[in-house]
Amino acid sequence: MSSMERTDQSEVKRHGLTSWLRVQFAGKEKESRFMDTQFLNALVGLKKVGRYEIVRKLGEGSMGVVYLGKDPYIKRDVAIKISRLASNLRAQREDDYRKRFFTEAQSAGRLIHENIVAIYDAGIDEELYYMAMEYVDGSTMEKFCRKENLLPIHKVVEMIFSACNGLDYAHKKGVIHRDIKPSNMMLNKLERVKITDFGIAHIKTEHNSQKGIIGSPCYMSPEQVKEEPVEDKSDIFSLGCVLYELLTGEKAFYGDNHFSVLYKITHDEPESMLKIRPEVPEILDQITRKALSKDPTQRYQSCLDMAYDLRVALRGLSGTVKKSKMEDVVDYVHNVPFFENFTRDQVREIVMASDLIKVPKGKVLVSEGEIDDSFFILLSGKAAVRKVNHLVAVIHKGECFGEMSYLSGQSRAATVIADADCVLLKMSATLLDRSSESMQLLFLKQFALTLMARLAKSNEKEQ
Ligand SMILES: Nc1ncnc2c1ncn2[C@@H]1O[C@H](COP(=O)(O)OP(=O)(O)OP(=O)(O)O)[C@@H](O)[C@H]1O
Ligand SMILES: [Mg+2]
Repeated sequence: MSSMERTDQSEVKRHGLTSWLRVQFAGKEKESRFMDTQFLNALVGLKKVGRYEIVRKLGEGSMGVVYLGKDPYIKRDVAIKISRLASNLRAQREDDYRKRFFTEAQSAGRLIHENIVAIYDAGIDEELYYMAMEYVDGSTMEKFCRKENLLPIHKVVEMIFSACNGLDYAHKKGVIHRDIKPSNMMLNKLERVKITDFGIAHIKTEHNSQKGIIGSPCYMSPEQVKEEPVEDKSDIFSLGCVLYELLTGEKAFYGDNHFSVLYKITHDEPESMLKIRPEVPEILDQITRKALSKDPTQRYQSCLDMAYDLRVALRGLSGTVKKSKMEDVVDYVHNVPFFENFTRDQVREIVMASDLIKVPKGKVLVSEGEIDDSFFILLSGKAAVRKVNHLVAVIHKGECFGEMSYLSGQSRAATVIADADCVLLKMSATLLDRSSESMQLLFLKQFALTLMARLAKSNEKEQ
């Protein structure tokens, strides 16, 4: 038995970790980079892959090499990621790998969002697997994680806010990133965040499964470490790690070997950010802690929820009073299903004319018998509708309530109580009455759809 293995066993004993952890990860002392020199040699002097002309090397990761390329037909710059299945796996695994490669490329290729690097094409050229994607003229966020190069706090919050928007979009399309980390988040020359490598963590696992963990494990969620099923909340954890590091210049979970990093992810709380960088506002410490909850049910339940809190934090940070802030709220509200038929300009008009409010679980939002001219759209959370103390319905994100008394001009017919922490858009009916006819029509249509859905539900119950 090697001395390395002996150390691992004593570590397992000391930490009481289950055997899978040892089997999976023990013994990987340093972050592995791409080491297949034969493959790297084969790429020397490469002029073309598929139809793309190779211009120059942009960087190297654990799976392969990224080049700046040119699409000769469309005449646009592309980034091309080239990899090759490890030679020891080629014979037995080629078919599986090929299938996985194209499945992942297809799902990532469906994502079209300003904060996500677009995938244009994927193919195989002899032994080389390649993916052509949007070229980002800029840098990854790694350099802003260094202590001597930290960004102003409001910039970090704006960047993570944008990342939340991109991730939320992907999650709604059913795509989980699985490998959120600073090197997969780029900033272009306009300082727009672009997330790369969407959904390809699977391919990475296939590609390297004989070699154990590849790349940095510092951003893995506890459920990834434990090999449990991974949902979108796993990306929220990883994004929390990035937020922590961009704010402090230190990793949330750090150890001198993979084993201790993984142990910390599953067992330890990260050091308080306020201790490391005292000017970090308390609210950002809370947001990061929530994102880093070990239990996924205690984290933000969607990236939009996290985005909302970041926006509130931004409001309190000096030097951020900008037009773009309003645009961020508009983005947030436009994403809610209730507003999907509205134009962006209309959503902006609504946001200007209404209140965005956050209420804790248990708060009464509307009281039976009350006369009030406002109605609400639930942007996040959940609310219970009660009549004479009986639960009659549950209102979910994207649904409206309170509109009946606005439409009928009568007092509230039921009480609505926040059943979780909620974010609401509160609109005054008087303001709606003053808005354009087309806007009023859109609202009435949404109200009609809501009423129909409620009717259908109560019919179902009766049958
Ligand atoms: N779309 C892109 N546009 C421009 N440069 C890119 C693009 N994608 C990647 N790069 C550059 O290539 C480098 C290597 O990327 P790659 O994804 O292979 O590795 P990584 O993310 O650092 O590590 P890992 O393989 O563990 O994910 C990046 O650090 C970045 O500098
Ligand atoms: Mg990458």
